[in-house]
Amino acid sequence: MGGLFTRKTLCPRPRFFLVLSLFILLLVILFVVDNLATQTKTIIGHNLEPPPWHEFPAKTFENETKYARASKIIQCSYLSCRSTANNVRPTFTRHEAEQQCPEFYGWIYHDLEPWSKTRISYTTLMEAMKLASLRVVIIGGKLYVDYYYDCVLSRAMFTIWGLLQLLKRYPGSVPDVDLMFDCMDRPYVAKSDHSAMPLPIFRYCTTRHHYDIPFPDWSFWGWVEVNLGPWHEEFQSIKQGSQKTSWKDKLPYAYWKGNPDVNSPAREKLVLCNDTNKWGAHILRQNWRKEVVNGFKNSKLSNQCNHRYKIYAEGYAWSVSLKYILSCGSVPLIINPIYEDFFSRGLFPKENYLPIPPENICPSIKTAVEWGNSHPSEAEAIGRAVQDYMERLNMDRVYDYMYHLITEYAKLLDFKPVRPSTALEECNESLLCYADETHRGFLERSTATPSPSPPCKLPPPNVEMIKKKMEAKNIIINKTQLIF
Ligand SMILES: *[C@@H]1O[C@H](CO)[C@@H](O)[C@H](O)[C@H]1NC(C)=O
Ligand SMILES: *[C@@H]1O[C@H](CO)[C@@H](O)[C@H](O)[C@H]1NC(C)=O
Ligand SMILES: *[C@@H]1O[C@H](CO)[C@@H](O)[C@H](O)[C@H]1NC(C)=O
Ligand SMILES: *[C@@H]1O[C@H](CO)[C@@H](O)[C@H](O)[C@H]1NC(C)=O
Repeated sequence: MGGLFTRKTLCPRPRFFLVLSLFILLLVILFVVDNLATQTKTIIGHNLEPPPWHEFPAKTFENETKYARASKIIQCSYLSCRSTANNVRPTFTRHEAEQQCPEFYGWIYHDLEPWSKTRISYTTLMEAMKLASLRVVIIGGKLYVDYYYDCVLSRAMFTIWGLLQLLKRYPGSVPDVDLMFDCMDRPYVAKSDHSAMPLPIFRYCTTRHHYDIPFPDWSFWGWVEVNLGPWHEEFQSIKQGSQKTSWKDKLPYAYWKGNPDVNSPAREKLVLCNDTNKWGAHILRQNWRKEVVNGFKNSKLSNQCNHRYKIYAEGYAWSVSLKYILSCGSVPLIINPIYEDFFSRGLFPKENYLPIPPENICPSIKTAVEWGNSHPSEAEAIGRAVQDYMERLNMDRVYDYMYHLITEYAKLLDFKPVRPSTALEECNESLLCYADETHRGFLERSTATPSPSPPCKLPPPNVEMIKKKMEAKNIIINKTQLIF
């Protein structure tokens, strides 16, 4: 009787628990599968092909399907980001370093001015989603990303890596934020488009006719496809290379090496100036396909500082090459660009470079080269000034710019950021998991460490000063047009 009693009352309980745990397991599986499915859909939902004009051989994922790629991003995120991020603000040990930020940080207010009165509503942000390739949400020092379409090459990976390094550099300091980011080259939100509310979108460049908000591009952390290392490494090696010969012993010509076939009018015209006797210019075609095969032996930037003058010609939009050209200590001859990145707006003609009007490229290069060769100390001083400018733009300052831009932008949000249901958490390990071996090497070389001092101090808003500076710049550039 006792045995029967025991069986009748005890047996159903283990079975009940077994059924219950199976049921819970099933729910968990369904939840994960459902999440994987929706997120994979989000990622590959609007998959764009790399645009045909792109400067570099797209090392695309030939034999990897988009689906496989998307599900790897998800796997890496789910399996890797489990530890809690360190988000405690440290006591800074170095207070004497509370220095003023470079003047060009003032552009942050200029860039955010369109929303300074209205602020940014959730509805406006959701509208900006249609322009975005990524949505970046930071909450409590954790980074969440929604992927809308594929960025070309490794832009997305290195941009997200940069944001993770920012969080690591200033734990507990970066505010909660929700922003839309596009990784395509050209700005989109035209000022002439008199819509009631411009859409806030971050990207790598802007123009004076656009509201797009410029943000440091991926190459500051490295550009795998063309073998460019992180900025702190490249700057040091270019500077060393530039010191092999004194300015006066460098070749007395202007030099440019790049890809002219990127749908850039300036570059197409520049190729016609390839004559050292007639125009004082030496123009070389960079064959990236060949370089990839040769292991980049002939594209080392530190070996390209042998000329007194270096030409900058923008590409399809802004060109990553600007910062390397400016680091050589040569006199930059900048063909007046349309596109601007976050730091180039602080450059001033005749102090940091000589402007070249795009309407008259070859004769203007000739005039500039002749001027410099007959005014060597003035010319050399321009080269030195701009190299110093780039030295001050070290990674500490790049993180500070990101920090201040994100902080000022976050103040404008009139809602509290929450994690979108589709967003994936990204962390150090998830990116390293997703990266291939080459990427991983680059990522590890650009790891940030916590800053011993607070970010540099942002000067108070002074939009008038920016306007005056812009006008002064325009006057010099216009005058140069008349002289040449
Ligand atoms: C992709 O294909 C190439 C040759 O077509 C092969 O060498 C390589 O191992 C493949 N990669 C993967 C990840 O399957
Ligand atoms: C420019 O001229 C040099 C020497 O004449 C030549 O080697 C080079 O290929 C030319 N560059 C272009 C872009 O044609
Ligand atoms: C980043 O991830 C790598 C690999 O998992 C690990 O070795 C390293 O300690 C991590 N760094 C931080 C700061 O989390
Ligand atoms: C410079 O020239 C452009 C057109 O050539 C003109 O629109 C602009 O007003 C001029 N700026 C100044 C400051 O003279």
